[in-house]
Amino acid sequence: MTSQPAKKLLILPGDGIGPEVMQEVRHIIAWLEAKRGLSFAITEDLVGGASLAQYGEPIRDDVIEQARAADAVLFGSVGDPRWNHVGFEKRPELAILKLRQELALFANLRPAKVFDALVDASTLKPDVVRGLDIMIVRETVGGIYFGNPRGIETLADGSKRGINTEVYTTSEIERVARVAFDLARKRSNRVCSVEKCNVMESGLLWKEVVTDLHAREYADVELTHMLADNCAMQLVRNPRQFDVLVTGNLFGDLLSDLASMLTGSLGMLPSATLGAADSAGKCPALYEPIHGSAPDIAGQGIANPIAQILSFAMLLRYSFDYQAEAQLIEEAVAAVLANGLRTADIMSEGKTRVSTSEMGAAIVNELDKAQA
Ligand code: IPM
Ligand code: MG
Repeated sequence: MTSQPAKKLLILPGDGIGPEVMQEVRHIIAWLEAKRGLSFAITEDLVGGASLAQYGEPIRDDVIEQARAADAVLFGSVGDPRWNHVGFEKRPELAILKLRQELALFANLRPAKVFDALVDASTLKPDVVRGLDIMIVRETVGGIYFGNPRGIETLADGSKRGINTEVYTTSEIERVARVAFDLARKRSNRVCSVEKCNVMESGLLWKEVVTDLHAREYADVELTHMLADNCAMQLVRNPRQFDVLVTGNLFGDLLSDLASMLTGSLGMLPSATLGAADSAGKCPALYEPIHGSAPDIAGQGIANPIAQILSFAMLLRYSFDYQAEAQLIEEAVAAVLANGLRTADIMSEGKTRVSTSEMGAAIVNELDKAQA
């Protein structure tokens, strides 16, 4: 049993299946408090479409301040087709983009790990994905998502032009590459840096900066470079060649969705987005599943809560250093899968189909067994 001051946790369930899968995390939090003596000071608020409906904006400044004050943020997902018609300044997605920007959460860690029990759930052959364990480190506060100029302008002939700009500076590239090299040292010690230096100056600089940093500080780590299009191909051809991948915002968005499907389901994968530690050593951090709000299945009780639960396990591990509890949760998830329980997204013949809440309850049950 640990007895430490309560950890300040901000929970933002968001839209669609977000609130449903977050409910299963609450059961796990209750279990940790009851059975492991942990204590959390939890605040909750609305983001995304839920916040737009209530307050007319995707995220309030007050929520950003709560996120700053928290020890960690557990995020669900945002996105709601009812707001498809509104401009970028009012889209539900702005909630996550603003949190990343305001808290300077520049390094998005997206693991793609294949559970043994789910090796058949992948659309790729079991031999290609068995044992897969890669980590994509995606830059999240720069690149074409935020570069200027941007906008849609009207030309003299009345037609329009849409503009976005890919921009990266030396320091932006260095800080995210550092995260990748540091992670690699704790894994298989290999980093592949991904850009399009054959057509983009920002990619050329990316490659130069990563190469220089490697030579200066990380010569013990194996570094390779790959063009982003080739990387997409290699991820499908032979994904196990990779350990840590580091790339910019847009390529990372694409490649991490691609990599996640190697594991069989988007519903399985957590992510962490980290900022730089302040002078007191506090590191802003937000944890969220890779999947979105899945409005097509929201409210039916069939969503897979595992990605949200594993995001919480990552939070325990990276932000609170509760290694034992994180491992307990990860093992409970593996056990439930080994027992053949499956939500709809990972269902296969001969397995037992369960609802969101049944999956959550089964994981808590495994926790109980492990603790007994
Ligand atoms: C993600 C999502 C977001 C992104 C959206 C919701 C803005 O796709 O986290 O990958 O593009 O970064
Ligand atoms: Mg995405």
